[in-house]
Amino acid sequence: MTPAIETRALQKRFGRQTVLDGVDLSVEPGEIFALLGPNGAGKTTLVNILTTLVRPDDGSAHVAGHDVVRSPVAVAQRIALTGQAAAVDEVLTARENLVLFGRLSGLSRREAPGRADELLDRFDLADAANGRVGTFSGGMRRRLDLALSVVVRPQVLFLDEPTTGLDTRSRRELWRIIVSLADAGTTVFLTTQYLEEADRLADRIAVLHDGRIAALGTAEQLKARVGGTSVELRGGDGTLLRELPTDGSVSSLRRAIDEIDAAGLDGDVVLRRPSLDDVFLSLTDRTHQEDLA
Ligand SMILES: Nc1ncnc2c1ncn2[C@@H]1O[C@H](COP(=O)(O)OP(=O)(O)O)[C@@H](O)[C@H]1O
Ligand SMILES: [Mg+2]
Repeated sequence: MTPAIETRALQKRFGRQTVLDGVDLSVEPGEIFALLGPNGAGKTTLVNILTTLVRPDDGSAHVAGHDVVRSPVAVAQRIALTGQAAAVDEVLTARENLVLFGRLSGLSRREAPGRADELLDRFDLADAANGRVGTFSGGMRRRLDLALSVVVRPQVLFLDEPTTGLDTRSRRELWRIIVSLADAGTTVFLTTQYLEEADRLADRIAVLHDGRIAALGTAEQLKARVGGTSVELRGGDGTLLRELPTDGSVSSLRRAIDEIDAAGLDGDVVLRRPSLDDVFLSLTDRTHQEDLA
């Protein structure tokens, strides 16, 4: 199957700053793929290249089977990028925006309202359908923005930090919608600074660091790279008394517990799997990088 997104040795410089320094990626159709990196890592630059807004300096990128430099129109017809819908008209209602956008995207006079109502429903905007967008909360705007970008179903949907600045509840609602879009067959490429977001949403995660993909895999695989399960002994108030690394096997867990036992320490034994935060810290900590790269 043709990958939904494929990049080879992708490079981008701004002046003397090399932002992307050989990015190799392959995203499968239907996958939710998260590009994880801190502010300034180059996430938006990569999204802009993949959505034909910025030209790479070197290397190649194909999206939905088309070369982003040679066939930008073919790519643009098959994708959507949220955050772009600065096309949202504040004076119009949510429903009017969706109908208008549908008409501009080529839906017929009959199709557009139907699609608008369907999306209002799915994106939890039915109650706000006739409210002016100017009065919407941040979470509602983000949902409308997402709804606008899927009026005509894209093959690949790009979400550049879709939940940045949202409260927990709005973030969870957006997550649910993103998953439902992927379930319906849309490939989702999202960028995030939130480890939890990548962990919760993505089938696979790529960590962008120093212009390259420093790590790639499922959340479980990334966690496994950082180390196995550790056995912790915690006091009654939750303070960490002992932490013993293990490889996750029964025998190593037993050894760790025996060691705690032998030390005559009293407390609660807790098993801890490494978090994505641990992964990220170890990947961006230069002293540990060689073992992981
Ligand atoms: N048009 C531009 N001109 C000059 N520098 C840019 C431009 N766009 C991005 N950069 C620089 O490239 C780096 C990566 O930016 P960006 O891709 O926006 O990162 P992220 O989205 O991960 O926060 C930053 O140092 C930023 O200042
Ligand atoms: Mg960005």
